[in-house]
Amino acid sequence: VEPGDEVRTYKARRRVTTGQAEALARLLPAYGVDLDRPFDAAEVFGRLAPLVLEIGSGMGEATAEMAAADPDRDLLAVEVHTPGIATLLRRLEAAGLTNVRVVEADAVHLLRAVLPAGSLDEVRIFFPDPWPKARHAKRRLLVPTFAELVASRLRTGGRLHLATDWESYARQALEVLSGSPSFELVGRDRGDRPLTRFETRGHAQGRQSYDVVAVRT
Ligand SMILES: C[S@@+](CC[C@H](N)C(=O)[O-])C[C@H]1O[C@@H](n2cnc3c(N)ncnc32)[C@H](O)[C@@H]1O
Repeated sequence: VEPGDEVRTYKARRRVTTGQAEALARLLPAYGVDLDRPFDAAEVFGRLAPLVLEIGSGMGEATAEMAAADPDRDLLAVEVHTPGIATLLRRLEAAGLTNVRVVEADAVHLLRAVLPAGSLDEVRIFFPDPWPKARHAKRRLLVPTFAELVASRLRTGGRLHLATDWESYARQALEVLSGSPSFELVGRDRGDRPLTRFETRGHAQGRQSYDVVAVRT
């Protein structure tokens, strides 16, 4: 079983409000990516810069903050939650950011079918759906096949940064990445990663954050 085929890593879609539908229609032509064409970063961003992929950008607060703080890199945000996409689009417009593009899709499809090998400088997975029940663990994104898919799209020396507030997920990430022939674990630092919405919620519920960083060998 490959992640994203028979197994969905996310919950069912939500309906969008009229305002969100308006934002999608108006802003996707500028900030979206045409998935039916071969992905050409220089064409999409109008320049060639190191490319960062954020998987599961949620409502996009951290996405917009990171892009503003890192103008020399381009950021591709992929998310399946349509209201979150709409909210992120509005943030990008309000902040006038030009180094972000947004994809409404399953990250597995984006990685497998759209992004070229070695095209990514960094992949960020911040607070992936935790699927805490044991019988749901197979839905977690970071399983060995997914790690190898990510590795194939990262350049040599590129980074994978996962953050979670579930200790068992952090343990799974350490296990998967230390067992991978394509990654070397390099640290547990959050670096300058901003607080995300889900992280703030987790802290309010008494959970702490765990960061796992690995480099593509
Ligand atoms: C718990 S939320 C965290 C959102 C945000 N990173 C934060 O920390 O606030 C996880 C997000 O990942 C998205 N997601 C889960 N599986 C995904 C997949 N296969 N492709 C794209 N997005 C996915 C979900 O829709 C959800 O918005």
